[in-house]
Amino acid sequence: MLDQNQSKTAVITTGLNGLIGSKLATDFGMTYDFTNLDITHPTQPTDITQYDQVATRLEALPAASQVIHFAAYTDVTGAWNQRENKTGLAYQVNVEGTKNLIKACQATGKSLIHISTAFVFNGENAQSYVESDPVSPIEWYGQTKAWAEAAVQTAEIPWTILRIDMPFRSEAFPKLDFAHKIIKGMVTGELHPQFTDHYVGPTFIDDFVKVIDFMLRTHTTGLFHASSGEKWSDFEFAKMLNLALKLNFEVKPGDLTSYLASLERPYQKNTSLNCERLKKILDFELKTVEQAVSEIKQPWLIN
Ligand SMILES: NC(=O)c1ccc[n+]([C@@H]2O[C@H](COP(=O)([O-])OP(=O)(O)OC[C@H]3O[C@@H](n4cnc5c(N)ncnc54)[C@H](OP(=O)(O)O)[C@@H]3O)[C@@H](O)[C@H]2O)c1
Repeated sequence: MLDQNQSKTAVITTGLNGLIGSKLATDFGMTYDFTNLDITHPTQPTDITQYDQVATRLEALPAASQVIHFAAYTDVTGAWNQRENKTGLAYQVNVEGTKNLIKACQATGKSLIHISTAFVFNGENAQSYVESDPVSPIEWYGQTKAWAEAAVQTAEIPWTILRIDMPFRSEAFPKLDFAHKIIKGMVTGELHPQFTDHYVGPTFIDDFVKVIDFMLRTHTTGLFHASSGEKWSDFEFAKMLNLALKLNFEVKPGDLTSYLASLERPYQKNTSLNCERLKKILDFELKTVEQAVSEIKQPWLIN
């Protein structure tokens, strides 16, 4: 936290109004002076798929030496419906948008923190994924994010890639997160049986924005897995939520195999991430998933 006499560090962002970026803006708005390249901005709209717009904004902010790139086409099913279509929004935003940012960072001497996903993996690993595991996407969203990562990794700028999985925050956001979708299902009594054979690595967004602050402060570069580092089945996670929040719901077990038979797009069975590489360098401790869930605030839902 800064005292009032210190000036804030200027940082450029994309996607700062989204589920994850908005938490960074809330928790670190006193530390950083964020300028967001926002496609829906009323006076200065910036579409990251348009290089000239991105370059103009980066050139106009010489004081900001770091760019955080949250913006993405994040609808996985929507992306699947665009598969192999490089003129579609998923490819244009996730791949071309990222390439435009890289090029503009190169031209203006800025570094890039790129937010990525465990969906770059095929989900067949029994263990949690480590950074040295090769990417192996099985659907179009994961493929576009893998291409974006490849572009970042070969860029001639200082870069950091942070991969996360199944993010959730302490308070609800209009786009419901992993935990709040389950909470909503339990509160309304409509929660489907939860898979006992589908594994994820929940990411506590409140902690993840502290990881981003760490990267900004320390200028650490490289590829890092940045979830909680834990591996949970949907069923165990929902049961734990139910108990911790005293929702009094009977979570029923389901199995992924029968669900997959009804699903048109491929689905990763395990997207948990090993975060030891990150934990070794952080100057604070990540919360356990159970500690994080105990911080979920009521009222749980917006609307
Ligand atoms: N949510 C997840 O489950 C999850 C899991 C793993 C990784 N991630 C990654 O984390 C990052 C943030 O995800 P999120 O869930 O916070 O995203 P989100 O809530 O869907 O927000 C995406 C943001 O991208 C912006 N955007 C989209 N197209 C744009 C364009 N052409 N030009 C400029 N901005 C554009 C949107 O701006 P407007 O608001 O103005 O439309 C929005 O603010 C993404 O890179 C995603 O791949 C997310």
